Amino acid sequence: MKQIKTNYGQYINANFFDLPIAPHSISTLITDIPYLDYTKAIRNGNGNLSEWTEFVVSMSKKFNEICNENANVLIFTGMWGESIVLKYMEPFFDLKQKLIWEITNPRPIDMLQNHRMKNMLNVIEPISWFVRGKDYYFNDAYIRKFQNGRLLNVIKCGRSSNSPYSSKPLMLIELLVQTFTDPNKVVLDPFAGVGTLGRVCDKADINWVCVEKNEKTFNEGAKNF
Ligand SMILES: C[S@@+](CC[C@H](N)C(=O)[O-])C[C@H]1O[C@@H](n2cnc3c(N)ncnc32)[C@H](O)[C@@H]1O
Repeated sequence: MKQIKTNYGQYINANFFDLPIAPHSISTLITDIPYLDYTKAIRNGNGNLSEWTEFVVSMSKKFNEICNENANVLIFTGMWGESIVLKYMEPFFDLKQKLIWEITNPRPIDMLQNHRMKNMLNVIEPISWFVRGKDYYFNDAYIRKFQNGRLLNVIKCGRSSNSPYSSKPLMLIELLVQTFTDPNKVVLDPFAGVGTLGRVCDKADINWVCVEKNEKTFNEGAKNF
């Protein structure tokens, strides 16, 4: 198993489901789940909806096992994946709120992604915020700085790059990390892609763990540390 360690965290090339993570040890989990891998496979005829459902069921059970009693869990579900994620997370966590990332610099290419229908440029991505217990961490002052003192569940932010690894913008991840992670605890991204969360946490002096299964993606991400 390859891994990279920094002062604050570790980027691990492994299957998240195979990693031994202590039960109830995680207080913040922020992740962008691999729904595109499944939609593409289904469209190409070499995947099916039950594989996706099984993935979400296993993920929810594992999140339940490793998260503590006051955990925050933030999941970029994609529009397509949202309903299934809500259905299978619901027995274990409370949906606190739905957040929306409003993409202020959408790529024109988005218009082509769903070419079977006439559609509008997609400028939003949903993020489901789940909690457990009453004492979940919430640094609302951080979000207010970006919203003229208000506290809104729409976060306006631009895409950072045209990377083929669909990396999320550093600013957006920083906002989520700072708002939902107790600086004395560890934040986990189990489906980490190129490790955007780790880069943000290293700068913010927050302890982190990022897990990425795909070796090529991991090697690409490793260049960032
Ligand atoms: C939507 S991408 C995450 C992109 C990330 N937000 C970034 O900024 O780079 C989801 C990632 O999960 C990875 N993945 C899928 N199944 C996994 C598993 N069982 N364990 C670890 N990583 C997995 C995929 O290879 C993919 O890179």
